[in-house]
Amino acid sequence: MRIKVVKGYEDMSREAARIIAHQIRSKPSSVLGLATGGTPVGTYRELIRMHKEEGLDFSKVVTFNLDEYYGLAPSHPQSYHYFMFQNLFNHVNIKPENIHIPDGLASDVEVFCRKYEEEIRRHGGIDLQLLGIGRDGHIAFNEPGSSLASRTRLVVLAEETIKDNARFFEREEDVPKFAISMGCGTILEARRILLLAEGIAKADAVAAFIEGPVSAQITASVLQLHPDVTVIVDEKAASKLRRLGYYKRADEMLSSRGQEQRT
Ligand code: PGA
Repeated sequence: MRIKVVKGYEDMSREAARIIAHQIRSKPSSVLGLATGGTPVGTYRELIRMHKEEGLDFSKVVTFNLDEYYGLAPSHPQSYHYFMFQNLFNHVNIKPENIHIPDGLASDVEVFCRKYEEEIRRHGGIDLQLLGIGRDGHIAFNEPGSSLASRTRLVVLAEETIKDNARFFEREEDVPKFAISMGCGTILEARRILLLAEGIAKADAVAAFIEGPVSAQITASVLQLHPDVTVIVDEKAASKLRRLGYYKRADEMLSSRGQEQRT
Protein backbone atom coordinates (compact mmCIF):
# COMPACT_ATOMS: atom_id res chain seq x y z
CA MET A 1 0.00 0.00 0.00
CA ARG A 2 1.25 3.47 -0.82
CA ILE A 3 0.19 5.88 1.92
CA LYS A 4 0.34 9.57 1.16
CA VAL A 5 -0.22 11.94 4.06
CA VAL A 6 -1.33 15.45 3.10
CA LYS A 7 -2.20 18.59 5.04
CA GLY A 8 -5.92 18.73 4.53
CA TYR A 9 -8.96 18.31 2.34
CA GLU A 10 -7.82 20.54 -0.52
CA ASP A 11 -4.45 18.82 -0.83
CA MET A 12 -6.12 15.41 -0.68
CA SER A 13 -8.55 16.42 -3.43
CA ARG A 14 -5.84 17.85 -5.67
CA GLU A 15 -3.63 14.79 -5.31
CA ALA A 16 -6.54 12.41 -6.00
CA ALA A 17 -7.60 14.41 -9.07
CA ARG A 18 -4.01 14.41 -10.33
CA ILE A 19 -3.90 10.59 -10.15
CA ILE A 20 -7.30 10.22 -11.86
CA ALA A 21 -6.36 12.72 -14.58
CA HIS A 22 -3.10 10.84 -15.17
CA GLN A 23 -5.13 7.65 -15.59
CA ILE A 24 -7.47 9.30 -18.12
CA ARG A 25 -4.62 10.88 -20.08
CA SER A 26 -2.66 7.65 -20.32
CA LYS A 27 -5.80 5.67 -21.32
CA PRO A 28 -8.60 7.92 -22.64
CA SER A 29 -11.09 5.02 -22.58
CA SER A 30 -10.40 4.30 -18.90
CA VAL A 31 -13.09 2.60 -16.86
CA LEU A 32 -13.38 4.49 -13.59
CA GLY A 33 -15.11 3.25 -10.45
CA LEU A 34 -16.60 6.25 -8.67
CA ALA A 35 -17.74 7.00 -5.13
CA THR A 36 -20.17 9.42 -3.50
CA GLY A 37 -20.25 11.05 -0.05
CA GLY A 38 -18.58 14.16 1.28
CA THR A 39 -15.04 12.92 0.70
CA PRO A 40 -14.80 12.92 -3.14
CA VAL A 41 -16.63 16.22 -3.77
CA GLY A 42 -13.39 18.23 -3.82
CA THR A 43 -11.76 15.69 -6.14
CA TYR A 44 -14.65 16.01 -8.59
CA ARG A 45 -14.44 19.82 -8.34
CA GLU A 46 -10.76 19.66 -9.28
CA LEU A 47 -11.47 17.26 -12.18
CA ILE A 48 -14.12 19.71 -13.48
CA ARG A 49 -11.56 22.50 -13.28
CA MET A 50 -9.06 20.38 -15.20
CA HIS A 51 -11.71 19.65 -17.83
CA LYS A 52 -12.57 23.32 -18.25
CA GLU A 53 -9.09 24.81 -17.99
CA GLU A 54 -6.77 22.05 -19.17
CA GLY A 55 -8.98 20.14 -21.61
CA LEU A 56 -9.13 16.93 -19.59
CA ASP A 57 -11.25 14.81 -21.91
CA PHE A 58 -13.98 12.51 -20.57
CA SER A 59 -15.47 11.68 -23.97
CA LYS A 60 -14.26 8.07 -23.94
CA VAL A 61 -14.30 7.53 -20.16
CA VAL A 62 -16.67 4.87 -18.81
CA THR A 63 -17.82 5.00 -15.18
CA PHE A 64 -19.37 2.60 -12.70
CA ASN A 65 -20.57 3.89 -9.36
CA LEU A 66 -20.13 1.83 -6.23
CA ASP A 67 -23.63 2.03 -4.84
CA GLU A 68 -27.09 3.56 -4.71
CA TYR A 69 -29.80 3.76 -2.08
CA TYR A 70 -32.51 1.21 -2.71
CA GLY A 71 -35.92 2.79 -3.14
CA LEU A 72 -34.76 6.23 -4.30
CA ALA A 73 -35.55 7.39 -7.85
CA PRO A 74 -32.65 8.87 -9.85
CA SER A 75 -34.35 12.27 -9.62
CA HIS A 76 -34.42 12.18 -5.79
CA PRO A 77 -32.03 14.89 -4.52
CA GLN A 78 -30.42 12.44 -2.08
CA SER A 79 -29.95 9.69 -4.64
CA TYR A 80 -26.42 8.95 -5.74
CA HIS A 81 -27.56 9.44 -9.34
CA TYR A 82 -28.47 13.00 -8.51
CA PHE A 83 -25.23 13.49 -6.56
CA MET A 84 -23.06 12.32 -9.44
CA PHE A 85 -24.75 14.54 -12.04
CA GLN A 86 -24.64 17.57 -9.72
CA ASN A 87 -21.05 17.06 -8.62
CA LEU A 88 -19.40 15.77 -11.78
CA PHE A 89 -21.27 14.51 -14.83
CA ASN A 90 -23.18 17.72 -15.64
CA HIS A 91 -19.88 19.61 -15.83
CA VAL A 92 -17.68 17.38 -18.00
CA ASN A 93 -17.99 15.88 -21.49
CA ILE A 94 -18.82 12.31 -20.44
CA LYS A 95 -21.30 10.47 -22.66
CA PRO A 96 -24.53 9.55 -20.83
CA GLU A 97 -24.38 6.01 -22.22
CA ASN A 98 -20.97 5.54 -20.57
CA ILE A 99 -22.33 6.24 -17.08
CA HIS A 100 -23.39 3.31 -14.89
CA ILE A 101 -24.96 3.71 -11.46
CA PRO A 102 -26.94 0.98 -9.67
CA ASP A 103 -30.68 1.37 -10.20
CA GLY A 104 -32.33 2.13 -6.87
CA LEU A 105 -35.70 1.23 -8.37
CA ALA A 106 -34.69 -2.10 -9.92
CA SER A 107 -37.69 -4.40 -9.64
CA ASP A 108 -35.67 -7.60 -9.80
CA VAL A 109 -32.63 -6.71 -7.72
CA GLU A 110 -30.83 -10.01 -8.18
CA VAL A 111 -31.07 -9.83 -11.95
CA PHE A 112 -30.01 -6.19 -11.90
CA CYS A 113 -26.94 -6.93 -9.75
CA ARG A 114 -25.86 -9.79 -11.97
CA LYS A 115 -26.15 -7.58 -15.05
CA TYR A 116 -24.19 -4.78 -13.35
CA GLU A 117 -21.31 -7.16 -12.77
CA GLU A 118 -21.58 -8.39 -16.37
CA GLU A 119 -21.45 -4.81 -17.65
CA ILE A 120 -18.24 -4.16 -15.69
CA ARG A 121 -16.71 -7.27 -17.23
CA ARG A 122 -17.97 -6.38 -20.72
CA HIS A 123 -16.09 -3.06 -20.45
CA GLY A 124 -12.89 -4.89 -19.56
CA GLY A 125 -13.02 -4.31 -15.79
CA ILE A 126 -12.36 -1.21 -13.71
CA ASP A 127 -8.99 0.48 -14.27
CA LEU A 128 -9.10 2.81 -11.27
CA GLN A 129 -11.52 2.58 -8.38
CA LEU A 130 -12.03 5.62 -6.13
CA LEU A 131 -13.12 4.87 -2.55
CA GLY A 132 -14.03 6.65 0.65
CA ILE A 133 -14.26 4.86 3.98
CA GLY A 134 -17.00 4.85 6.61
CA ARG A 135 -16.35 5.30 10.33
CA ASP A 136 -17.14 1.60 10.71
CA GLY A 137 -14.45 0.73 8.15
CA HIS A 138 -16.83 0.07 5.26
CA ILE A 139 -16.02 0.55 1.59
CA ALA A 140 -19.01 1.17 -0.69
CA PHE A 141 -21.90 -0.11 1.49
CA ASN A 142 -20.07 -3.23 2.57
CA GLU A 143 -20.93 -2.98 6.24
CA PRO A 144 -19.16 -4.95 8.99
CA GLY A 145 -19.96 -8.62 8.49
CA SER A 146 -20.05 -8.41 4.68
CA SER A 147 -18.23 -11.24 3.01
CA LEU A 148 -14.84 -10.18 1.75
CA ALA A 149 -15.71 -12.10 -1.43
CA SER A 150 -19.11 -10.37 -1.85
CA ARG A 151 -20.42 -9.21 -5.22
CA THR A 152 -22.93 -6.51 -6.19
CA ARG A 153 -26.09 -7.14 -4.14
CA LEU A 154 -28.79 -5.68 -1.93
CA VAL A 155 -27.38 -4.71 1.48
CA VAL A 156 -28.85 -3.47 4.76
CA LEU A 157 -27.28 -0.25 6.03
CA ALA A 158 -25.69 -0.25 9.49
CA GLU A 159 -27.09 2.03 12.18
CA GLU A 160 -23.84 4.01 12.19
CA THR A 161 -24.07 4.62 8.45
CA ILE A 162 -27.69 5.72 8.69
CA LYS A 163 -26.70 8.20 11.43
CA ASP A 164 -23.72 9.48 9.43
CA ASN A 165 -25.80 9.94 6.29
CA ALA A 166 -28.75 11.55 8.09
CA ARG A 167 -26.99 14.90 7.63
CA PHE A 168 -28.01 14.82 3.97
CA PHE A 169 -31.69 14.13 4.74
CA GLU A 170 -34.37 16.15 6.50
CA ARG A 171 -34.94 13.48 9.16
CA GLU A 172 -33.01 10.35 10.15
CA GLU A 173 -36.13 8.26 9.37
CA ASP A 174 -35.84 9.39 5.75
CA VAL A 175 -32.49 7.66 5.22
CA PRO A 176 -33.12 4.48 3.20
CA LYS A 177 -32.46 1.23 5.05
CA PHE A 178 -31.24 -0.69 2.00
CA ALA A 179 -28.79 -0.06 -0.80
CA ILE A 180 -27.43 -1.82 -3.86
CA SER A 181 -23.66 -2.03 -3.48
CA MET A 182 -20.70 -3.47 -5.32
CA GLY A 183 -19.15 -6.16 -3.15
CA CYS A 184 -15.67 -6.38 -1.67
CA GLY A 185 -14.86 -9.02 -4.29
CA THR A 186 -16.03 -6.67 -7.06
CA ILE A 187 -13.86 -3.83 -5.73
CA LEU A 188 -10.83 -6.07 -5.35
CA GLU A 189 -10.89 -6.81 -9.09
CA ALA A 190 -10.16 -3.17 -10.01
CA ARG A 191 -6.64 -2.80 -11.40
CA ARG A 192 -5.82 0.12 -9.18
CA ILE A 193 -7.50 1.48 -6.05
CA LEU A 194 -7.41 4.98 -4.62
CA LEU A 195 -8.87 5.44 -1.13
CA LEU A 196 -9.38 8.89 0.41
CA ALA A 197 -9.97 9.72 4.06
CA GLU A 198 -10.08 13.05 5.80
CA GLY A 199 -10.72 14.23 9.36
CA ILE A 200 -10.39 12.84 12.87
CA ALA A 201 -13.68 10.91 12.63
CA LYS A 202 -11.97 8.53 10.19
CA ALA A 203 -8.75 8.02 12.21
CA ASP A 204 -9.82 4.75 13.90
CA ALA A 205 -11.10 3.25 10.64
CA VAL A 206 -7.90 4.25 8.82
CA ALA A 207 -5.64 2.69 11.48
CA ALA A 208 -7.79 -0.46 11.59
CA PHE A 209 -7.86 -1.12 7.87
CA ILE A 210 -4.16 -0.44 7.29
CA GLU A 211 -2.65 -1.92 10.46
CA GLY A 212 -5.28 -4.31 11.80
CA PRO A 213 -6.01 -7.84 10.65
CA VAL A 214 -7.87 -8.53 7.41
CA SER A 215 -11.37 -8.91 8.72
CA ALA A 216 -14.97 -8.76 7.53
CA GLN A 217 -15.56 -6.49 10.54
CA ILE A 218 -13.51 -3.77 8.78
CA THR A 219 -14.28 -4.42 5.14
CA ALA A 220 -11.69 -1.89 3.90
CA SER A 221 -9.02 -4.22 5.35
CA VAL A 222 -9.56 -6.47 2.32
CA LEU A 223 -7.48 -3.88 0.43
CA GLN A 224 -4.40 -5.33 2.16
CA LEU A 225 -4.79 -8.17 -0.35
CA HIS A 226 -4.72 -5.86 -3.38
CA PRO A 227 -1.37 -5.21 -5.09
CA ASP A 228 -1.97 -1.60 -6.13
CA VAL A 229 -3.64 0.57 -3.50
CA THR A 230 -2.91 4.24 -2.87
CA VAL A 231 -4.32 5.79 0.29
CA ILE A 232 -4.43 9.59 0.56
CA VAL A 233 -5.12 10.76 4.09
CA ASP A 234 -4.87 14.09 5.84
CA GLU A 235 -2.87 14.48 9.07
CA LYS A 236 -5.98 14.01 11.23
CA ALA A 237 -7.21 10.85 9.56
CA ALA A 238 -3.62 9.51 9.72
CA SER A 239 -3.13 10.42 13.38
CA LYS A 240 -3.75 6.93 14.82
CA LEU A 241 -1.40 5.05 12.50
CA ARG A 242 1.39 3.51 14.59
CA ARG A 243 3.88 3.34 11.73
CA LEU A 244 3.11 6.76 10.32
CA GLY A 245 6.78 7.82 10.26
CA TYR A 246 7.67 4.84 8.11
CA TYR A 247 4.84 5.41 5.64
CA LYS A 248 5.83 9.05 5.20
CA ARG A 249 9.48 8.16 4.69
CA ALA A 250 8.63 5.39 2.22
CA ASP A 251 6.37 7.71 0.22
CA GLU A 252 9.05 10.44 0.12
CA MET A 253 11.80 8.04 -0.91
CA LEU A 254 9.72 6.44 -3.66
CA SER A 255 8.58 9.86 -4.89
CA SER A 256 12.20 11.02 -5.06
CA ARG A 257 12.90 8.04 -7.35
CA GLY A 258 10.01 9.24 -9.53
CA GLN A 259 8.10 6.10 -8.67
CA GLU A 260 4.36 6.62 -8.84
CA GLN A 261 3.23 3.47 -7.14
CA ARG A 262 4.40 0.97 -4.59
CA THR A 263 2.72 -2.37 -4.92
P1 PGA B 1 -18.13 10.34 3.51
O1 PGA B 1 -18.57 8.81 3.42
O2 PGA B 1 -17.25 10.59 2.33
O3 PGA B 1 -19.41 11.12 3.41
O4 PGA B 1 -17.43 10.49 4.82
C1 PGA B 1 -17.61 7.84 3.18
C2 PGA B 1 -18.23 6.48 3.20
O5 PGA B 1 -19.17 6.24 3.98
O6 PGA B 1 -17.76 5.61 2.44
